[in-house]
Amino acid sequence: MTGKKQRAIFEDATAQAQETVAAPAVRDAHRDRESIAMWQFAIAALVVLMIVVGGLTRLTDSGLSITEWNLVTGVLPPFSTDGWTAEFAKYQKIPEFTEMNYDMSLSEFKTIYWWEWGHRFLGRIIGLAYLIPFAIFAFRKQIPVGWMGRLFIPGLLILVQGVIGWWMVSSGLTERVDVAPYRLAVHLGVAFVILSLVIWNGLRLSRPATASLAARRERMPAMVSAISVIGGLTFVQILSGALVAGHDAGRGYTDWPLMNGAIIPPEATEMSPLWRNIFENPALVQFDHRIIGYVLFAAIIWLWFRSRRAGHDRLKNWTTWVLVAATGQMLWGILTVLNGAPLTYAIIHQLGAVVLTFLLVRARYEAAYPTMQKIART
Ligand code: HEM
Repeated sequence: MTGKKQRAIFEDATAQAQETVAAPAVRDAHRDRESIAMWQFAIAALVVLMIVVGGLTRLTDSGLSITEWNLVTGVLPPFSTDGWTAEFAKYQKIPEFTEMNYDMSLSEFKTIYWWEWGHRFLGRIIGLAYLIPFAIFAFRKQIPVGWMGRLFIPGLLILVQGVIGWWMVSSGLTERVDVAPYRLAVHLGVAFVILSLVIWNGLRLSRPATASLAARRERMPAMVSAISVIGGLTFVQILSGALVAGHDAGRGYTDWPLMNGAIIPPEATEMSPLWRNIFENPALVQFDHRIIGYVLFAAIIWLWFRSRRAGHDRLKNWTTWVLVAATGQMLWGILTVLNGAPLTYAIIHQLGAVVLTFLLVRARYEAAYPTMQKIART
C-alpha cells in the first residue's frame, strides 16, 4: 500500500518535471510551425495575385514591352523622358511593334510597360518574401525536422519561374509577334505547382506535429488517390487552357456545344504531322480543352458521390465545394467561349482555376489528415 503510494508520488513528480521541461519546448515548436504556416499562406496569396497580374499582363498584350532581363538594375522603371524614349526605342525594334503596333504612341507604350514592370516587380517581391523568412527560420533553427527540403523546393521553383518568365518573353522578341504558347503553358503550370505546394505546406504546418501524426492514422487512402488523380487532370486542363490562351484559340469557334457548327471542325487535323494539331492547331487546341473539361467535370461528380460513402463530414463539405467550383468553372468557360474570350471573362476563368486548385488541395488534405469528428449526442 505504502509502496504503491510512493510510486504514485514518484510518477507524478516525474510527469511534472517532464512537463515543466518539455512544455515550453513543445509550445515553441507549435509556434514555429504556425509562423511557418502563416508565411506559406502569405506566399500563396502573393502567388494568386501574381497569377492575376500575369494574366492581365498577357490579356493586355503587355508582356513584350520590356525587352531586357536585368534582375537587379531592372527594378527601376524609367524616371525621365529620355529614359522612356530609350525604352520605347528598344520596343520599336521587335516584331510585335513593327508588324502590329507600329502606330503606338509613347503614352500607350507606358501603359503596357507598367503592366510588365508590375508583374516583374511582384516576382521580385515574392522572391524576397520567400528567401528572407526562409533564411531567418533556418538561421534560428525553427524549421521542423524533415521540413527543410519541403520548404526549399517552392523557393527554388520561384527562382526557376523568373528564368522561365524570361525564356518565355525572349521567344517573342525576334521572329514571333507574341510569346511561344508552350513556354506560356510551362510558366502558368509552374505557377500552379508553386501555389499547390505552399498551400499544402501551410495546411500541414498549421497543425501541431502530434495532432498531425494522430490524424494521419485516420487517412483515407482511396480518397487521397482519387483526389490526386483528379488534381493531376486539373493540372493538365490548366496547361491546356494556357495553350488555348497562347494560341488565342478562344477568340475563334464562339459557338457551343458545337464548334463552327461541327463536333470537330474539319480544319482541326490539317497540320502535319498529325500530333502537332493537338498542341498547335487552334481548332483542336480548343477542342482538347473542352473535352478534358468534360472528363474532369464527370470525374469531380464521381468524386462527390464517392465522398458520400467516406463517412467524414468535413471531407463531404470540401468535395461539395470542389463540385460547386468545377460547375462554376465549366459554365464560365462556356460563357468565355460564347463571348470570344474578352479580358474580364478570361481573367475570371483563370481565377476560377485558382479556386478549384485550392479546394482540391484542401480536400486532399482532409482525406490525408482527417479532422477529428465530434461524436453525435444521443
Ligand atoms: C474545370 C474546367 C476548366 C479549367 C480548370 C479551365 C482552366 C483554364 C485556364 C487555366 C485557362 C488559361 C487562362 C489564361 O491563361 O488566361 C483557360 C483558358 C480558357 N478556357 Fe478553360 N478551363 C476549364 C473549362 C473550360 C471549358 C468547359 C471551356 C469552354 C467550353 C473553357 C474555355 C476556355 C477558353 C476560351 C480559354 C481561353 C481564354 C483566353 O483566351 O484567355 N474552359 N482555362
